[in-house]
Amino acid sequence: MNLILLGPPGAGKGTQAQLLQRERGLVQLSTGDMLRAAVASGSELGKKAKGIMDKGELVPDALMVGLIRDRIAQPDCAGGFILDGFPRTEAQAKALDQMLAETGKKLDRVIEMEVDEKALTERIVGRYTCAVCGTGYHEKFKRPKVEGVCDVCGSKEFVRRKDDNAETMKTRMAAYRAQTEPLLPYYSGRGVLRKVDGMASMDEVHRQISGVLAGT
Ligand code: AP5
Repeated sequence: MNLILLGPPGAGKGTQAQLLQRERGLVQLSTGDMLRAAVASGSELGKKAKGIMDKGELVPDALMVGLIRDRIAQPDCAGGFILDGFPRTEAQAKALDQMLAETGKKLDRVIEMEVDEKALTERIVGRYTCAVCGTGYHEKFKRPKVEGVCDVCGSKEFVRRKDDNAETMKTRMAAYRAQTEPLLPYYSGRGVLRKVDGMASMDEVHRQISGVLAGT
C-alpha cells in the first residue's frame, strides 16, 4: 500500500507516519527528515537546502524529485511506503505520477489532515525529537513516559528544529497555502483523497486513518 499524508506544517504527518510504519511495516519517507540528514552530513544537497529550510521556503522541485525517485526505487519500499512531506507542488505531484507509472506502482490513498491554523503554531513551537532515534515529542501533547528519557531508545538527548518558531511558521504556512493546498483538488479529482480530523487526539487520528485504510 502506497500513501501520501497531506497537511500543513504541524498537522501531525510525521507522528501518524511513525505509527503506521510501526504497525503496518510501511516505510516512512519524510522529505523533511531526508533534507535534515543531508544538512547534517554537509552534502551538496544539504548545502543547497539549508538556507531555504531555515527561512521556511520550499526546496526546488528538481532536487526533491531526484531525492524521492532514488528512494522509492530502494528494495525496502517494495512492500509499500508513506510519503510524508512530498509532493508539495503540482510539479512534484506530476513527477510522482510519472515515477509510479514507470515502476508499475500505484497510489492507494492520499489522506488530508485538517487542522485549525491556530493549533499549528502551538504544536510546532512545543515540538522536540529524540536526537538518537528521531521519535517525536511535544511539551504539552506528548511527553516521554519518564521525563527526559526517550520512550523508544532510552536516549537523554533531544533536539529542536531551527525552523520551528512562530516567525518561520508564517512563511511555511504561506508556502503550504500557495503551493501545496492546490494538490487537494488534484487528488480529489482522481478519487483517492480522504479527510481525517487532525484536531482530534493522536490516537483518534490514528483510528480514523486506520478506518480509511480498511476501505482500500
Ligand atoms: P517538513 O519536515 O516536511 O515539515 P512540515 O511539512 O512543515 O511538517 P512538520 O514536520 O513540521 O509537521 P508534521 O505534520 O510532520 O507534524 P508532527 O507529526 O511533527 O519540511 C521542513 C522543510 O523542508 C520545509 O519547510 C521545506 O523547506 C523542506 N521540504 C521538505 N519537503 C519538501 C518538498 N517536498 N519540497 C520542497 N521543500 C521541502 O507534529 C507536530 C507536533 O504536534 C509534534 O510535537 C507532535 O507531538 C504534535 N502532535 C501531532 N499530532 C497531534 C495531535 N493530534 N494532537 C496534539 N498534538 C499533536
